[in-house]
Amino acid sequence: MDRGSAHKGRLPSGEERARLVREMFDRIASRYELLNTLMTAGLHRIWNNKAVEATGLREGGRALDLACGTGSLTRDLAKRTGPTGYVLGIDFSREMLRAAQARPAPNVEYRLGDATNLTGVADDSFDAATIAYGARNIPDLDALFSEMTRTVRPGGRVVCLEIARPKGRLSATFYRLWFDRVVPRLGAMVSGDAWAYSYLPESVKEFVAPGELADIMERNGLQNVTWRGFSGGIITLHVGTRPG
Ligand SMILES: C[S@@+](CC[C@H](N)C(=O)[O-])C[C@H]1O[C@@H](n2cnc3c(N)ncnc32)[C@H](O)[C@@H]1O
Repeated sequence: MDRGSAHKGRLPSGEERARLVREMFDRIASRYELLNTLMTAGLHRIWNNKAVEATGLREGGRALDLACGTGSLTRDLAKRTGPTGYVLGIDFSREMLRAAQARPAPNVEYRLGDATNLTGVADDSFDAATIAYGARNIPDLDALFSEMTRTVRPGGRVVCLEIARPKGRLSATFYRLWFDRVVPRLGAMVSGDAWAYSYLPESVKEFVAPGELADIMERNGLQNVTWRGFSGGIITLHVGTRPG
């Protein structure tokens, strides 16, 4: 098995997975934010706020948002750091970045790049690094978290927001109904891309369990790793600190 592999089932791995994911996000970029709002009933705003809080960022701080997509969390981080702060959003889909750049902010920069190989991003250069709904798309989680650890300063935080399969009976039933049945149909209808929205529940199914994700973060240099679930465990938020 791959070290830190995010998937153990039917989805392809390595370069093939990266290519499929990149092309898929290029195709759905123009509808991505609308679908996010529909599929989460707007709750993604609340989950973003939890992620921003978990970074411990202050006015004037510096944040790195990986797999930033259309910039939803990037913009929320930029609001927290204010005009004297700086946020760098990195994504490997040109079309997702194009949508992000259509809503510019003076303290935000977007860059095309691979979250597992952050060439040109200096060591210890951010107060916090975040990734929202990106980790389950990335087969090499060791490479992802070692890059996040490397680029935050000692004492800086690494934050990962992700979808999970809930354990409770009620939320598991809701999850199966919503993510396995409604999301693929709604996604196909609104985006015109059936594969993309059947990939979504499949990628959640194949992603590592929250405890395992915490172990991966720890073995890549983070300490005090904790995680919490929101909305009945459908969303998990992991936070770790680079030793000071
Ligand atoms: C579900 S979207 C999340 C976007 C954004 N973080 C949000 O909260 O809406 C996943 C994003 O991860 C990006 N992505 C996946 N693998 C990546 C990688 N290895 N490097 C950079 N971006 C990646 C995709 O292009 C896509 O924009």
